[in-house]
Amino acid sequence: MSALAKNYNRRKIAFKKGKGSFLYSINGKKYLDFVQGIAVNSLGHANPYLIKAINKQAKNLWHVSNAFTIPESERLAKRLVKKTFADFIIFQNSGAEATEAAIKVARRYFYSIGQPQKNRILCVKNSFHGRTLATIFASGSKKMTEGFGPKVDGFDHFTFGDHKELEKAITKKTAAIMVETIMGEGGIKVIPDWCLKGLRKMCNKKKILLILDEVQCGIGRSGKFFAFEYSGIKPDIVPIAKGIGGGFPLGAVLMNKKVASGMTAGTHGSTFGGNPLAMSVGNAVLDQIFKKGFLKNVQNISKYFHTELNKIKNKHPKLIKEVRGVGLLIGLQLFKNQKKFIQKLMDYKLLTIRAAENTIRILPPLTVNKQEIDIAIKIIKKVCVNLK
Ligand SMILES: Cc1ncc(COP(=O)(O)O)c(C=O)c1O
Repeated sequence: MSALAKNYNRRKIAFKKGKGSFLYSINGKKYLDFVQGIAVNSLGHANPYLIKAINKQAKNLWHVSNAFTIPESERLAKRLVKKTFADFIIFQNSGAEATEAAIKVARRYFYSIGQPQKNRILCVKNSFHGRTLATIFASGSKKMTEGFGPKVDGFDHFTFGDHKELEKAITKKTAAIMVETIMGEGGIKVIPDWCLKGLRKMCNKKKILLILDEVQCGIGRSGKFFAFEYSGIKPDIVPIAKGIGGGFPLGAVLMNKKVASGMTAGTHGSTFGGNPLAMSVGNAVLDQIFKKGFLKNVQNISKYFHTELNKIKNKHPKLIKEVRGVGLLIGLQLFKNQKKFIQKLMDYKLLTIRAAENTIRILPPLTVNKQEIDIAIKIIKKVCVNLK
């Protein structure tokens, strides 16, 4: 019997090795892995470039306290600043920590300009920002918060897509709107570019901050470094994690100069955040993602994948409701019984994962090639015929 607590409904399958887009189970089966640790292994399993980088760093220095200067974290922060909207970075270890830090940055900014009453964060109902106490209450989800009271106060909610409800929910106490640019767990729901532009305008008008959670959709997954870049807007604060570590636990909160002014010495910290080992991997991930043509390739290959999936949808209009997503953050929304579909895909050796609204999440590594996508397409077609 497992000594692990039962907070996960784990599948029996276990793996001993991974290489690129594939996983090898302990009983000798090969799977096409289009989960990739839920958008974590951005460069696939056992990426040789990442292995080299982490090995080199491991021989020199694993960890030093943030009480000292860490050149590797200075470098990663500078590179993120150079390539994005951000002026300053705080490193963390996970997505929940990064989103929680984002909330702290927003509140602290208003405190620092003499408006401490502006401390509430407006979020989407049934969104996902992590599993810490604050972030579960940010989600506005009954399922995630049940039994974890007393409620962490400071969050208000509106329904995804309901602009009137959103505008009404903004009060004098609102500090920021925090949304996922593309809702991952919530069913791969994309905020359209015109809505993002509207959100930015509204935040400017109301003098509140815009936090875009790019923990799942960021770091190249959409085909741009950040998914919001398609809209041309600039947020104030962006938490990231998952893909930036390529499989190593690493998170960060990116912010502009204005809001960073509140984060004076002693206001936030993390023992591990920004340690040399994590930073060596983060820098190596950026080396690859910022390589000329890398993101263009994600855009091209994902266009092919979306086209092929839409062809399947058109052939099976009673089974597949919608192909959702941007780039390689893909959702196949079914009319019913997504669990059975996922199991069937797995029987044919394709790994995918559920999301809300009967959606199957398909998350190949950003290094996926056409042949691998063709394997997936063939399996998905087979399952559609099976379940017709
Ligand atoms: C949008 C978003 N924010 C935050 C998180 C939390 O990240 P972590 O599980 O690393 O704490 C996730 C995780 O799935 C996520 O998808």
